[in-house]
Amino acid sequence: MKRIIILVIAIGMVVIWVMAQAVESPNGVALWEQITIENPYSHWSQFPDHTGMQKGQAPHGPLHIVYVNLVGLKKGWPKPDGTVIVKENYTADKTLAAVTVMYKVKGYNPEAGDWYWVKYAPDGLVQKEGKPDGCINCHSVQAEHDFIMVSSH
Ligand code: HEC
Repeated sequence: MKRIIILVIAIGMVVIWVMAQAVESPNGVALWEQITIENPYSHWSQFPDHTGMQKGQAPHGPLHIVYVNLVGLKKGWPKPDGTVIVKENYTADKTLAAVTVMYKVKGYNPEAGDWYWVKYAPDGLVQKEGKPDGCINCHSVQAEHDFIMVSSH
């Protein structure tokens, strides 16, 4: 009987360990649905030090608007898990050219702030997603500010 109990406990611990290792794997298509239909980013807030349409730099384009969800509005770094930052990128004549997103997922990429990066076409087509070297390398200049460029909030 004792052995069975020990065996059951051991199996239980293995199951818990395996579940703890299974990190949520984000998905660009699902995330688009989440941020445009379930909880549309157009209703979110903005960083208090970066509101409205602002001038930007290459590669993102000349104009942009940055939205952040409630979780990400928490002041300071690192931002909490579940933070989503959405940047609408516009051409000089204010045509939407792309939507770039940073989504903080616990355990997804600890070496680079656990951000999941996505670039969408204006219609939501995923153009890049995951841990693209380009996004991470450039944003690394702000590694101490959780890879965030536009805000010190
Ligand atoms: C060569 C540098 C560079 C690359 C590459 C780059 N970014 Fe950025 N990113 C910036 C700069 C600079 C800003 C500040 C706003 C602006 O100038 O448009 C920014 C701002 C952002 C923001 C708003 C939040 C913040 O960090 O301020 C998001 C979201 C974002 N980038 C996503 C991405 C994604 C996704 C990729 C890859 C597909 C990417 N970026 C690639 C330089 C870069």
